[in-house]
Amino acid sequence: MTDRMTGVRPISVAIIDDRPASLELLAAALRRDDLQLHCFADPELGLEFILDRQPQVVLTDIVMPGLSGMELLERVVEFDPSIDVVLMTAFYSTESAVEAIRKGAADYLDKPIAPHALRTRLAPLFSRHRARLAALELEKHVAENAVFADMVGNSPAMWHLYSQIQRIAPHYRAILVSGQTGTGKELIAKALHHFGPGTQGPLVPLNCSALVESLFESELFGHVKGAFTGATQDKVGLFEHAHNGTLFLDEIGDMPLATQGKLLRALQDQEIQRLGSLQSRKVNVRVIAATHRNLRAMIAAQQFREDLFYRLSMIELKAPSLLERDGDLPLLTRHFVARFASQFGKSITGLTYRAQLLLRQHDWPGNVRELENVIGHACIMVMGSLIDIGDLPEFIRGKQGQFPVADQPPPPEFGSLEKHERRLLAEALAKVNGNQSGAARLLRISRDTLRYRMKKHGLSS
Ligand SMILES: Nc1ncnc2c1ncn2[C@@H]1O[C@H](COP(=O)(O)OP(=O)(O)OP(=O)(O)O)[C@@H](O)[C@H]1O
Ligand SMILES: [Mg+2]
Repeated sequence: MTDRMTGVRPISVAIIDDRPASLELLAAALRRDDLQLHCFADPELGLEFILDRQPQVVLTDIVMPGLSGMELLERVVEFDPSIDVVLMTAFYSTESAVEAIRKGAADYLDKPIAPHALRTRLAPLFSRHRARLAALELEKHVAENAVFADMVGNSPAMWHLYSQIQRIAPHYRAILVSGQTGTGKELIAKALHHFGPGTQGPLVPLNCSALVESLFESELFGHVKGAFTGATQDKVGLFEHAHNGTLFLDEIGDMPLATQGKLLRALQDQEIQRLGSLQSRKVNVRVIAATHRNLRAMIAAQQFREDLFYRLSMIELKAPSLLERDGDLPLLTRHFVARFASQFGKSITGLTYRAQLLLRQHDWPGNVRELENVIGHACIMVMGSLIDIGDLPEFIRGKQGQFPVADQPPPPEFGSLEKHERRLLAEALAKVNGNQSGAARLLRISRDTLRYRMKKHGLSS
């Protein structure tokens, strides 16, 4: 997984105070790795710096010769209200405090202030800026690489998902991730865990569809020796393993009803009992449940507990289907080609244009996983450096008939195909110095077809 944004730039802080001793004290109190301090004894110079370099935070004295802190506040707020200005004064008065806040000051402090008190007071402000800088940094990273925590995608639907994950990850206790099969729900769970609160226990997965009914509860909650036949020793359940971390319940729709009841209780009370034990154990566990099934329909059919559903779905994240991700198909295709090419030690550069068109024709009921499989298949089959139609699996090639790959003129709704077709013809002809048989062979069409198409596009050898 891409690392949590470690390269975040430091928060820039301008400190302005006409008394050098006071300035030095403030700077000493705030000297830390992720703060970049800029000190000014002259408020005019300080303001110049602020307008030029836009620090995140300004800490300024009020009573200063030349330019007062109040005036400076007004100028900064007018220039950029996202800069936080903290005013300090040895002449504290409620009136001036009220005036400062009304004018947009982030805080108003009484001088002198002890170093640790200053740090404590400003900590929330700095952490807000830290989060904002990290979010900006991440946004830039996603925009440049079209990857967010191992998810490839640059479509509006995926950006929406990324932003939801970032907003939700630090706060949720339980969450439902829904979406068709193969849409990357597991990757979403990993991202939620990854962007979760700083100090974290592990991400512990349980695939509910892979477990027989009788084992569920001992798996989740553990058991003590002798709890049932075959319980020869104590066993720690997944809830306890996930303490301070995240429990990922995949395919939650396959969890037996009785276990659902116990899960609900564990979520509500944040405590569990090992099977066969009367002792309750406190656990601090966040739960991500994933499903490709329609839980509402399952509730109606009395296969899923409604109370558990509401407990889990206060926040619901929907993984968009591949068809909903405008423009992501080529990105994902390239991503998988690169991965399989390196895995198989082949130098594959991409897909022919018509193979790409064929992929675009498909409706991808298996979503990203299906695309991954198709590209994997093609990367095994391909002989040269470009994947062509013949390298794609049968069920994708079946679509060929519906599409003018070689012989018929393209239907009008594929207007842009004309342009590409002309380019392909021209490129093929150029490659073989205008030799028509050679070009026809390259394009895998007959000479007659080639001539017909050249004529249509007004091309000559
Ligand atoms: N945005 C993406 N970028 C790159 N790979 C992806 C993306 N989404 C999914 N994948 C890959 O597709 C495959 C399927 O993803 P995943 O297992 O997370 O799907 P799922 O939603 O859990 O499906 P199911 O409901 O069938 O369990 C995985 O190999 C995963 O790495
Ligand atoms: Mg899954």
